[in-house]
Amino acid sequence: MNYLNGKHILVGVTGGIAAYKSAELVRQLRLSGAVVRVVMTTAAAEFITPLTLQALSGNPVHTDLLDTAAEAAMGHIELARWADALLVAPATADFIARVAEGRANDLLAAVCLACDAPLAIAPAMNRVMWKKPATGENLAKLQAGNVRVLGPAEGLQACGETGPGRMLEPEELVAGLSGMFQTGVLAGRQVLVTAGPTREAIDPVRYLSNRSSGRMGFAVATAAAEAGAAVTLISGPVSLATPAGVRRIDVESAADMYAAVMQAVTVADIFVSVAAVADYRPALVAPQKLKKESAESSLDLIRNPDILAAVAALPDAPFTAGFAAETEAVETNAQNKRLAKGVDMIAANRVGAGQGFDSKENALHVFWEAGEQVLPVTGKGKLARQLLDLIAEQFQNSCHQGKVIKFNAKDSA
Ligand code: CTP
Repeated sequence: MNYLNGKHILVGVTGGIAAYKSAELVRQLRLSGAVVRVVMTTAAAEFITPLTLQALSGNPVHTDLLDTAAEAAMGHIELARWADALLVAPATADFIARVAEGRANDLLAAVCLACDAPLAIAPAMNRVMWKKPATGENLAKLQAGNVRVLGPAEGLQACGETGPGRMLEPEELVAGLSGMFQTGVLAGRQVLVTAGPTREAIDPVRYLSNRSSGRMGFAVATAAAEAGAAVTLISGPVSLATPAGVRRIDVESAADMYAAVMQAVTVADIFVSVAAVADYRPALVAPQKLKKESAESSLDLIRNPDILAAVAALPDAPFTAGFAAETEAVETNAQNKRLAKGVDMIAANRVGAGQGFDSKENALHVFWEAGEQVLPVTGKGKLARQLLDLIAEQFQNSCHQGKVIKFNAKDSA
């Protein structure tokens, strides 16, 4: 399965002869559906021109930490925040040493240091440099910090020697990078996700709804599938493609969503309620299009069922995670919502004025019974993966604290 479609991949190129292969790497990443940006070191630009990588990536190439114009347009922090993953290929011995030391003395090293997305490096160097204890120690340090080392391969080297130190081929790097998104933390689990708005009919042509785009819910479903879960996504009306490997059920109203959730939840280990469910619906749905007969009009509304609260109240409830969309007192309202609905975890986000709904970025403050964590502003895909990691961690904890019998029962179902 290709996990790179739509992912933001930042390719770092350092100064080694294998830099010529970075052009093909960038081309193949784009063929996999990734959005690619390239950061080069000064030495890399001696081996391959920024123009080549700009043409192949379709984006300007970033080179200089101290270029104020480039830094103002998209600085090292924005690049770090933008990336879903970083791949430095080729990674020279010098670059590996600098990253292991936590240096930020050029743009690429600064981005690596500022980035909390997964980092992979593809070492490329002479076989003697590769075998030196100093290189080994630097690599061990990076691996201890969860940096993925892809390669190197053995074979004939540019220097004429034969041994380990050749950069992996572009297709091997693409496969390795794709595999990094496949975490497996929810392997064998059933995850149910709701997404998007609901539409509450007024008459055959009109409805009440909200600005939810469905992006966050779809990103959560994607992240759950990448984490190895079997995912069912129940979505209100949105214009988004179904994530790979996800079973999708389309619904329209809150009542439809409630019915679909209650049917699907029986086998779920985890329920993530991301949908912006309408709290009210018109008390009566006019059978024909309403006519504008009077100067004023009003609509009687009745409460919709609270889907999240209903799931949390089930005797055999799965691990439940909800969202709290708030315009004010975000933390207090979110904590109150978690307690009132009886859910295991709540992810609070500020909405309104270009935030949260209908935007590509978001930030979350996540609360559970024994803790909380802030997930700073970033793309919804990356945020969803970070949230899924927290959910998986707390789900495992709740299994260990006694909910295990319930989950085992589902395992055998
Ligand atoms: N939710 C739900 N069913 C509803 C309303 C909300 O399942 N009828 C879920 C949402 O998917 C979200 C959580 O409850 O996970 C909180 O939704 P939110 O709109 O923030 O809060 P409400 O419960 O609607 O409360 P209020 O509008 O008063 O803030």
